[in-house]
Amino acid sequence: MLVLNGPNLGRLGRRQPEIYGSTTHDGLAELCVGWGRELGLDVEVRQTNHEGVMVDWLNAAADDATPVVLNAAAWTHYSYAVYDACAQLEAPLVEVHISDPTQRPEVFRHSSVVTPHAAHVVAGRGVDGYRQALVLLTSRPEAGDV
Ligand code: DQA
Repeated sequence: MLVLNGPNLGRLGRRQPEIYGSTTHDGLAELCVGWGRELGLDVEVRQTNHEGVMVDWLNAAADDATPVVLNAAAWTHYSYAVYDACAQLEAPLVEVHISDPTQRPEVFRHSSVVTPHAAHVVAGRGVDGYRQALVLLTSRPEAGDV
């Protein structure tokens, strides 16, 4: 299964730690692989700042029916390319955010193009939210149970 992280998440640990915490992206990737191992899942973690790369990864996940944990970061709030790519996924999709965008002051963060396609949304739980998302994928959540 794939954990896909969008723009600016490569700077985790250095990026606004008061919001996103002190875990680096490498640290997050190690944690996800370890949590996956405990759950019997083969987890691969990727990050990109390039929207077309993310769409390619999501299209490949659709072709292979691969479950996805997605933190689309800022694309969450405006990318119809990410919306369309998520719509094609066959296996369950869990949306993750380290912060809770719906509770943040910027109004643009209050909507998500990913949520309509997500079986679950985990937000505001820090990096532990990724563990929760992996657990949810293990239990094969049904679409719409957000
Ligand atoms: C984020 C929240 C988004 O609003 C923001 O653009 C991000 C990170 C999060 O993980 O809390 O880049 O997805």
